[in-house]
Amino acid sequence: MKKLIAGNWKMNGKFGQNTALLDAVLAGLKEKPPTCGVAVCVPFPYFVQVQDYQDRSRDESGNPMLSLGAQDVSAHEAGAYTGEVAASMLKELTVSYVIVGHSERRQYHGETDQLVADKTKAALAAGITPIVCIGETLAEREAGHTEEVVKRQLAAVIHTNGHCISEIVVAYEPVWAIGTGKTASPQEAQAVHAVLRAQLKAATDQFARVKILYGGSMNAANAASLLAQPDIDGGLIGGASLKAPDFLTIIAAAQN
Ligand code: 13P
Repeated sequence: MKKLIAGNWKMNGKFGQNTALLDAVLAGLKEKPPTCGVAVCVPFPYFVQVQDYQDRSRDESGNPMLSLGAQDVSAHEAGAYTGEVAASMLKELTVSYVIVGHSERRQYHGETDQLVADKTKAALAAGITPIVCIGETLAEREAGHTEEVVKRQLAAVIHTNGHCISEIVVAYEPVWAIGTGKTASPQEAQAVHAVLRAQLKAATDQFARVKILYGGSMNAANAASLLAQPDIDGGLIGGASLKAPDFLTIIAAAQN
């Protein structure tokens, strides 16, 4: 399966800084065109800036080497939802991917499994690929509940989206590994990915299409060993996506 490397800038950036980062990423991609998909999920105010790089990254067949992604989407189509952005609006801005259910949104904004499932549905209806994040906290892992938690989170998304589930991307992001420098070992990550793969298999005969990304302190040094695991189909990269050389090294490690 073609891998996917997606950067999650989170709430970081400044126009000048972004230009330097994107110039270096684009130059690296042009020098060595990737065989994996590459996306950056950026704050809303930077969409137009990234769109320009997306256009400039097109290969000879017109496909962008660098795709634009968002970090959140409303579960609603339109209406009186102050501050929210609808999936159809993202689509108009040529957004290809949207992160839904990131643990930071579950934790700080009270997003429930059902809301995440509804946001996934809204993204799919607009033709945007949702990157659905799931993952256990440290307390849940230490209590031996990892499998139960990730399966519950994914089950809500499967239940609400039915056969369309084959169009999503899943990101396993153990909460204790996010921004902490602690990474799940390749074996620990693979074990959870295998559980998720089996769950997807039970839900759709198209399960082999669903990419399962790993996220949580993935960096230039550990990417290759994580990406070598049979059920790790790419990465969702936070901190390291803000440094062009590191991001490019991770992309290079994702070549098939
Ligand atoms: P870090 O790579 O900074 O740990 O962040 C991971 C993440 O949350 C990506 O969505």
